[in-house]
Amino acid sequence: MVAHFKKKANALTKEFLTLKEACEWASSYLGRQVTLNNISYLIQYAKIHTYDREGNLKTGYNGDARISLHELKQYYDRSRKEKRWKELLGEDINWNLSFDNFRESERTKHVHRLHPYKGKFIPQLVEYFLDSHINDFKRNVFFHSGDIILDPFVGSGTTLVQCLELGMHSIGVDISKFNCMISEAKVQNYNLNKLSNALHKAAKETETFSKARFWYEHEDVIEQLLSSFNTKYYPNPEFKFLLSLVREFEGKIENEALELSKDASIDRPKIVEEVLSKHKDEIVYLEEQIAGLAGRTSTPIQFSISEENIKNLGNEFADKYAEIVLKELEKRIPRKKQMKLSFISEEAFANSPFLSRWFTERQRAEMQYYIDQVNREDDPKIQDLMRIILSRAVRSCRATKHVDLATLIKPQAEPYYCRKHFKICRPVTTIIRHLNRYTEDTIKRVREFSNLRRNVFCEVINDDSRTVDILNYIARRNEDFYRILEKKKIDGIFTSPPYVGQIDYHEQHAYAYELFNIDRKDEQEIGKQSNGTGKKAQSDYIAGISAVLLNVKKFLRKDAHIFIVANDSKYLYPTIAKASGLEIVEVFRRPVLNRTERDKQPYSESIFHMMFT
Ligand SMILES: C[S@@+](CC[C@H](N)C(=O)[O-])C[C@H]1O[C@@H](n2cnc3c(N)ncnc32)[C@H](O)[C@@H]1O
Repeated sequence: MVAHFKKKANALTKEFLTLKEACEWASSYLGRQVTLNNISYLIQYAKIHTYDREGNLKTGYNGDARISLHELKQYYDRSRKEKRWKELLGEDINWNLSFDNFRESERTKHVHRLHPYKGKFIPQLVEYFLDSHINDFKRNVFFHSGDIILDPFVGSGTTLVQCLELGMHSIGVDISKFNCMISEAKVQNYNLNKLSNALHKAAKETETFSKARFWYEHEDVIEQLLSSFNTKYYPNPEFKFLLSLVREFEGKIENEALELSKDASIDRPKIVEEVLSKHKDEIVYLEEQIAGLAGRTSTPIQFSISEENIKNLGNEFADKYAEIVLKELEKRIPRKKQMKLSFISEEAFANSPFLSRWFTERQRAEMQYYIDQVNREDDPKIQDLMRIILSRAVRSCRATKHVDLATLIKPQAEPYYCRKHFKICRPVTTIIRHLNRYTEDTIKRVREFSNLRRNVFCEVINDDSRTVDILNYIARRNEDFYRILEKKKIDGIFTSPPYVGQIDYHEQHAYAYELFNIDRKDEQEIGKQSNGTGKKAQSDYIAGISAVLLNVKKFLRKDAHIFIVANDSKYLYPTIAKASGLEIVEVFRRPVLNRTERDKQPYSESIFHMMFT
């Protein structure tokens, strides 16, 4: 078994494998014989690619072919996952709708990544139902270019962006003003040169201001120190790999213990002791590797694998090691230089509890300076996009651990071991670097989308979908669009409503509401997390969603197709459909694969196709 670890360690340090090495690696990874034929099959059916000795992609390459270890591992992990998920969630789950063949960059293509947003759906899902392809699962084309699509819970605007790509007119409604700002910023048609000049100027001037006022922080020096420090103590991929071995060992022992515990006559401590003694050699090997890593520090690590820590081995190893590494860091960078998290109340945003709690004095002054630039900009479209860039930078710079960015827990002032990046990270004290980075990224994304968007109408309305008068809004804003809308009505809906008790959509962007002094309408949010998931919350939710569907019905064609994406774990949608005079025509079930690091539980959602009865 130690040989297995060592072999794996060798293979994993190589990026490309010969076919023979690929067979050996796969056999040991899967614990069964994988033959040359099996690997050739994967190549033939384009499940994996072939490369030459230098690692260049060579399609149909027969010579001395190499296989990417990363691709091979990904392929096996995916097949295992599909099998396991189907066992847990049911065979009717449609793996095609997982879109797991799309890379992260495609799932967050162009403007979809202008700003983070918890609870958005992926563009490929929207495309799948709106576009004109058919297959074994989607047997009808529901929409055509020139149609009008409504999203009454538009959130960050995914449906609208895809409609623009597909040549469909669209309308999005949302109760949260900031979400509407995100959507607006994505769908606007910009003058790209003017935009680029204005955004660069605002970022540059904020940087000049910040450097002049806060020159003493030596940010770059500390960053460089930290980076060389990490290279020494958290060598990549050595550290990650060692941690993965420790976790693999932890899982293996647990499984074996579980197997033995089926025999009720032996108690747990005895079982674990027995299993550990069976794997004595591996323990020695792992402890040696850990000691070797810790040998880089001046304090030896007290870490051994035993019955007491076997359940939490990976985390305990990472935490104990981090503890001594952080002490080492303190010798190099005195604590007072590491972070200046002062909460000076006379500074900018003194009356904003959120901003005062989660940002340094320097960051708050930079934010205020940038907002002054926004106010001086004369083009409202550019102003909106500047706010989105600032908000994105601010969100990334909150004084918190990287893993807690989506759900803030407590302010983090000092360097810490980061479970996301497997090294020592430190909260940033300035927003300048992020501001510059997101300025460039935004310009690039908007430019990319400008080449794809078609010439169709798109409107975002900030209102309550239970009562919104869509026709009236469009009549006031866009006469040409109004004429089409009045004549042909809305052709369908594609939306993902909030679900009962899951997310507080205003609170998710609390920093932005304070930053831009925007009104909040939390009490009008349907299914708010803070209202819980109890009986009352559920009946309010049913009433809320039904009220939306009944309200928008008057703007829709009689034969409109309505698609609602929801993880209906409480089985509320059949009641909602009935209360709204709708019939559920079909339900598509999809696995949701790309959720957060922490939440790896198999999870599915349904796409309800409904029509008016
Ligand atoms: C699941 S999110 C939509 C995400 C969207 N599909 C996307 O990709 O970004 C649900 C949205 O419904 C909005 N919402 C909640 N109650 C509402 C109401 N009464 N009227 C309009 N929108 C509402 C929330 O603010 C939130 O943005």
